Amino acid sequence: MSNPTAQALFEAARAAMANSYSPYSNFPVGAAILTPDGAIHSGCNVENAAYPQSWCAETTALAHMVAAGDRRVVAVAVIAEKADRVTPCGGCRQKLMEFGTADTKIHLCDQTGVVETVTLGALLPMAFDLDTP
Ligand code: THU
Repeated sequence: MSNPTAQALFEAARAAMANSYSPYSNFPVGAAILTPDGAIHSGCNVENAAYPQSWCAETTALAHMVAAGDRRVVAVAVIAEKADRVTPCGGCRQKLMEFGTADTKIHLCDQTGVVETVTLGALLPMAFDLDTP
């Protein structure tokens, strides 16, 4: 891979996916976030017997980022064990936009690395923003 940062994000997302708690969907997901100062925060999906109480890998990664004191998302990597390419769900797109921008990179990964890179703006056009007139 030519982009070492994307590779590091991919590896962090894959490592987090290995800890996924997803006995109900059997669909492990991992995510990793890059901040402006180069920190990486990762997370996995965490499910619950009361299904709606489950949450996504991106949400876990964001929570780790915020708890560490970081507030800006430069890039994200997402990987699912049973898909060649997975994109963040609608709710996670909005959560990522809270701390990212339309230019935030979203690296979509398979088991070997990044297969496609899109922007958060492309995934969430006309995003809700309190500053939007
Ligand atoms: N999931 C994520 O963790 N991230 C996504 O962007 C899509 C879906 C999880 C939620 C649930 O635990 C499982 O994947 C199946 O939907």
